[in-house]
Amino acid sequence: MTDRDDCNAVRLVPVCPQSELGLVDALRELSQSAFSDFGSYRETIDHWLTSDHAVTLCAVEDTQPVGFITYVYRRLRDQVYGEIIALAVASSARRRGIGQRLFEQAVTALKSGAAAVGATCIELNVSHKNASAQRLFFKHGFSLVGSSGRYPNGDRANRMTLHLDSESLPPAASQ
Ligand SMILES: CC(C)(COP(=O)(O)OP(=O)(O)OC[C@H]1O[C@@H](n2cnc3c(N)ncnc32)[C@H](O)[C@@H]1OP(=O)(O)O)[C@@H](O)C(=O)NCCC(=O)NCCS
Repeated sequence: MTDRDDCNAVRLVPVCPQSELGLVDALRELSQSAFSDFGSYRETIDHWLTSDHAVTLCAVEDTQPVGFITYVYRRLRDQVYGEIIALAVASSARRRGIGQRLFEQAVTALKSGAAAVGATCIELNVSHKNASAQRLFFKHGFSLVGSSGRYPNGDRANRMTLHLDSESLPPAASQ
């Protein structure tokens, strides 16, 4: 069995504030260690977990949370877009396809809901130094569109976008 086969044993579970406390605590720890270079992330994850609009999916192996992704639709003036807010995999579980699985699940979900909310693209921010994450995003068709400021540690936040071709989107569910 390869590491990638092993990744198939990982379940993706939606997380909300009512989820088992151990799961929420584990996500706080995971985000804190994965994003320590970018300042404290504990409050940020709590904010997104309690948001009505954001979705957080946790990758669980046996009973152990090993990664998560958070995504949301946002509106800026007249434009609606999907955004990947955070993606992290525990350092002990990396390079086994878990990050990619979480990412693909989030992109698929954002694409499926795009027509209903009028979203035209999916966006995310990533440090200009984070070559491994950028490689994952490029692999899934995202392109660099500029910078959206700096992280607290001074790294430039690169903005990446995937334009959604309306013809390739699933039709909006009829009301
Ligand atoms: C980025 C991150 C989520 C990747 O998770 P992962 O489970 O290790 O990634 P996967 O095994 O699914 O790899 C998927 C792809 O990502 C890229 N990648 C991931 N880690 C890489 C590394 N160390 N070096 C080069 N490419 C890498 C590759 O393109 C890889 O595909 P490939 O194996 O076919 O080459 C993980 O490294 C992480 O949590 N980093 C810290 C937090 C972070 O940077 N989050 C993203 C910020 S927006």
